[in-house]
Amino acid sequence: MSRKRSICLIFHISLYLVLVNGDYYSATSELERLLDVEAFIVEKFEEYLDRAQQEQDNIKRFLDQVEKLQPDHDDLEGYFGNPLNAFTTIRRLVYDWKYNVFEPIFNTTNLEDYKSSISGGLKTIDFKGPNEEDLKGATRGLLRLQNIYQLPTAQLANGVLAGEKNQLNISLSASDCLELGTNLCEMQEYSYGSEWLLEARKKINEDSLGFISPNVTDVEILEKLIPAFYHLGNLKLANKLNNEILEKESDHEEALRNKVAYEAILAKERNHRPRKPSALSEPNKKEAKESYQLYKRVCRGELRQSPRQQRKLRCLFSHQNVAFYRLAPFKVEQLNLDPYVAYFHEAINSSEMEQIIEKGLGSMERSRVGQSQNATTSEIRTSANTWLWYNENPWLSKIKQRLEDITGLSTESAEPLQLVNYGIGGQYEPHFDFVEEPQKVFGWKGNRMLTALFYINDVALGGATAFPFLQLAVPPVKGSLLVWYNLHRSLHKDFRTKHAGCPVIKGSKWICNEWFHEGTQVFKRPCGLSSDEGKFLHFENK
Ligand SMILES: *[C@@H]1O[C@H](CO)[C@@H](O)[C@H](O)[C@H]1NC(C)=O
Ligand SMILES: *[C@@H]1O[C@H](CO)[C@@H](O)[C@H](O)[C@H]1NC(C)=O
Ligand SMILES: *[C@@H]1O[C@H](CO)[C@@H](O)[C@H](O)[C@H]1NC(C)=O
Ligand SMILES: *[C@@H]1O[C@H](CO)[C@@H](O)[C@H](O)[C@H]1NC(C)=O
Ligand SMILES: *[C@@H]1O[C@H](CO)[C@@H](O)[C@H](O)[C@H]1NC(C)=O
Repeated sequence: MSRKRSICLIFHISLYLVLVNGDYYSATSELERLLDVEAFIVEKFEEYLDRAQQEQDNIKRFLDQVEKLQPDHDDLEGYFGNPLNAFTTIRRLVYDWKYNVFEPIFNTTNLEDYKSSISGGLKTIDFKGPNEEDLKGATRGLLRLQNIYQLPTAQLANGVLAGEKNQLNISLSASDCLELGTNLCEMQEYSYGSEWLLEARKKINEDSLGFISPNVTDVEILEKLIPAFYHLGNLKLANKLNNEILEKESDHEEALRNKVAYEAILAKERNHRPRKPSALSEPNKKEAKESYQLYKRVCRGELRQSPRQQRKLRCLFSHQNVAFYRLAPFKVEQLNLDPYVAYFHEAINSSEMEQIIEKGLGSMERSRVGQSQNATTSEIRTSANTWLWYNENPWLSKIKQRLEDITGLSTESAEPLQLVNYGIGGQYEPHFDFVEEPQKVFGWKGNRMLTALFYINDVALGGATAFPFLQLAVPPVKGSLLVWYNLHRSLHKDFRTKHAGCPVIKGSKWICNEWFHEGTQVFKRPCGLSSDEGKFLHFENK
């Protein structure tokens, strides 16, 4: 790596890492920084190894020379009879050995220099490496992908995400699979956990990356796999695998204990009624909800609007009654009429999108759910976000104006732009954008009337915005704006607008949200003549 590049790199790292908040797994923007730091460490050690190699070469040369200079031992008298030989021999022992061999080998100043330069480098950029919590977060991300998109474990383990076309040229090693399986079992996801452990078993003999991770033994995997099958209620298989351990290590203490316990239960079962599978994980409350089931099916593309439902949808050019846009109209693609959901294509240009990401990158934080002070991070929303205020970023004024033109609403009561980045299996589970008690949370601004969502990049796979009740999955289209009303005309909540961000399967997802509130829209979107209170109430808790 050239010097220029390395200076660039260090600058790059210091620029980003100082401002990192939160975890590594929730956003790809954080993960990119990890690679920068890893590259920095590789470079430092390469420098060190180069220097060490050079020193070794020098020492070797010196030793070769000394060997050649050794005189013939039969005529030492004659040799030292020459005063020059006496001088060079003494000089060699006084200086040359010291400078050429002892110092380079025994003086550790160089090594200490390198050590402190690396740790100092990491300290100045305030780098805290990822930890086990990040590894668990990444595991949960993969689990979510498997669960929602029904990706088979064997395919994932071989680097196939979805469909043949998306074959990646990576595959997981036995120790990767063991790590995933172990983590999943710890989360009591025994079904997926056991599948990953079985993959690890398949892979131990073909593990070409064994030198990078510690070697995995079959017994290690079996130690995790047996309790998993036990919890899944498959005692016969657990017992069989337990015997496999004992075949390999006849004095394995845990296996010996298990053998006694399993065989006792199995014997009891032979004499009585079969045991009911005990600890099968029941679907939790969240997953049991109809909207969650619909969300999964909409994300997978199993559930979509029928042609009949779509027949009134149009694509049209629209100027929204703004003179300027009569010349360059918006490209509108209607997605649903009631409640209204539509794309506005090419609503933001590439240099604007770049600027938004650049501006937000340094201050991304793990996204929270909940209201103001009580907001917490949660697996419900795995992403990182930041806010861009209009008064601090005057260059956003054109985008703000465009948002007003497109929606016909005022931004006076709107929130700052929210930039969001989704990482491994990043998602936002079904939720409403409006809140229960708007006066408490938003004061005079009132509830979130309309959501405007810019897609800032193309997502390779996954990451659609799903409306479970509308049977609608809106795939991200770079530069497009997705718009929908959260409230009825009479400002009552429209419970059909429950929506979600499907997990990102491949790639990264950047979006930018703007929420328009009720306040100041009195002449922009007047109420209808009748109240919509109580409409579609049955969707509220569905
Ligand atoms: C080790 O090497 C450094 C420079 O490379 C030198 O300044 C220092 O005096 C040496 N230490 C010893 C104990 O020789
Ligand atoms: C995939 O990996 C194999 C070896 O692991 C390599 O030979 C091949 O060139 C790679 N293909 C691509 C498209 O990177
Ligand atoms: C890992 O296992 C392979 C095959 O079993 C073996 O050849 C290799 O030496 C092992 N590596 C280490 C570091 O133990
Ligand atoms: C993008 O829009 C900005 C206005 O916000 C404009 O200044 C710029 O020239 C546009 N860039 C491109 C590539 O169209
Ligand atoms: C935060 O939680 C407390 C108790 O759980 C509640 O009394 C309070 O109203 C909440 N605050 C907000 C802003 O929601």
